[in-house]
Amino acid sequence: MKKLKRKELESYLQQVDGFENPKLVLEQYPTRPHIAACMLYTIHTTYDDIEDKLIADLGCGCGVLSIGAAMLGAGLCVGFDLDEDALEIFKANVEEFELTNVDMIQCNVCSLPSDKMLKRFDTVIMNPPFGTKYNKGLDMTFLKTALQIAREAVYSLHKTSTRENLDMTYQHHSSFIRRSRLISKWTSFAFLLVDF
Ligand SMILES: C[S@@+](CC[C@H](N)C(=O)[O-])C[C@H]1O[C@@H](n2cnc3c(N)ncnc32)[C@H](O)[C@@H]1O
Repeated sequence: MKKLKRKELESYLQQVDGFENPKLVLEQYPTRPHIAACMLYTIHTTYDDIEDKLIADLGCGCGVLSIGAAMLGAGLCVGFDLDEDALEIFKANVEEFELTNVDMIQCNVCSLPSDKMLKRFDTVIMNPPFGTKYNKGLDMTFLKTALQIAREAVYSLHKTSTRENLDMTYQHHSSFIRRSRLISKWTSFAFLLVDF
């Protein structure tokens, strides 16, 4: 696979179709191509958590993160989302880019049997619902699931204002992940890296 530069990745991600009629209740706002490209490129080049890895994208929506990870050489990236309409667009995006290392599953991430999926994925990437108005606490449920199903690393975008809560969730549920955690500011988000 050709090595992509960050700018090239970003310009590919600009061609990914987004939500046609975003559902507020599901917090369907897409990750902007610039943020997605920066996040994925860092995960790939600094932490080596994409190439040949089995990756889960929780709340994948129309697939911008999964598609980016696939372009950077993921072994397989599996997207999980509740919404059939979003997954239809995701599927069309994958076909448009002719990617063979992407799959998707329609499901509620909160009901994933995380015991059966314990440590099944090398890496989890996600831009989860922020768990605001309609879905209080959903961001932490996604994080908890991610920490259970990941073998090596979890990368997740969150609102900076939830940092304290993130810290607590991480302390409670990170026993499966062995090493350090690093939080840094990413525009208006906290960018949480949990690496092995
Ligand atoms: C902030 S959007 C992110 C979409 C996409 N990952 C991206 O980065 O552009 C959150 C996604 O989570 C999905 N979602 C919300 N609640 C969910 C749940 N309980 N289970 C699975 N997916 C859910 C929404 O349908 C939406 O696609």
